[in-house]
Amino acid sequence: MDRKRTIQDFITMKKKGEKISMLTAYDASFAALLDAAGIEMVLVGDSLGNVLLGYDSTVPVTMEEMLHHCKAVRRGVKQAFLVGDMPFMSYQVSKSEAISNGGRFLKEAGCDAVKLEGGTEVCETVKAIVKAGIPVMGHIGLTPQTASQLGGYKVQGRDADSARRLLQAARDLETAGAFAIVLECIPAQLSELITGTVSIPTIGIGAGRQCDGQVLVTHDMVGMFEKFIPSFVRQYANLASEIKKAVATYRDEVRKGIFPGEEHSFTMQLDIKSLLEE
Ligand code: KIV
Repeated sequence: MDRKRTIQDFITMKKKGEKISMLTAYDASFAALLDAAGIEMVLVGDSLGNVLLGYDSTVPVTMEEMLHHCKAVRRGVKQAFLVGDMPFMSYQVSKSEAISNGGRFLKEAGCDAVKLEGGTEVCETVKAIVKAGIPVMGHIGLTPQTASQLGGYKVQGRDADSARRLLQAARDLETAGAFAIVLECIPAQLSELITGTVSIPTIGIGAGRQCDGQVLVTHDMVGMFEKFIPSFVRQYANLASEIKKAVATYRDEVRKGIFPGEEHSFTMQLDIKSLLEE
């Protein structure tokens, strides 16, 4: 495709049964790689708190950090649809704060949409943001910003009550105007039911293959983040070991005077010793 992806493209893909692929990016060079590989949606996730900034959770991530990375990713993405993640406490305090923070992702960082976590309880906020002209992606199931309230980073919706709540949350998000919903860490049967119930695309992470699309944290799937590897991640590469190998070889060659070689050095025509004779 030689044009920018739109929300309409994702609705059409869902109708045709074509799967949507989404990955996270936090900087321009990674974003450009994902874009060139044909990824349809790029998410600047608040997971950057874990994988880039070294926090233990996504809770400390600020609006300024998110905008800084969204701007960088914007410069790398040409065709993919760009979604910026609203950080913890940027949309919970009031609807007007949620609208102005959501607006900053579009106005200042050039995002196409925002994502925020939560089910039925955030639907009034979602409605207000959408009404202000900002496309919203929902995110239900395991919501990392409120993981402590959910009893930790655990699969959600395993019993009838919580499964019913998640199904209702998906319906409410659709009614509130969300254009898509991330389903994180829920049983595959439940995500299949939700996907068949709502008309907007579902994007799964640890939610089975029946979702309309899939998302992963890029650093997890390319094997660059070693601190913790969720069981639902497939590692398509092991870049951490490649990088460590490359760095160790570089260090060794610097110590031994092998690097830089002649081919990495510059020369001049002048007899350099003549400078000492002047
Ligand atoms: O922050 C993030 O990267 C996310 C995805 C894992 C869905 O929310």
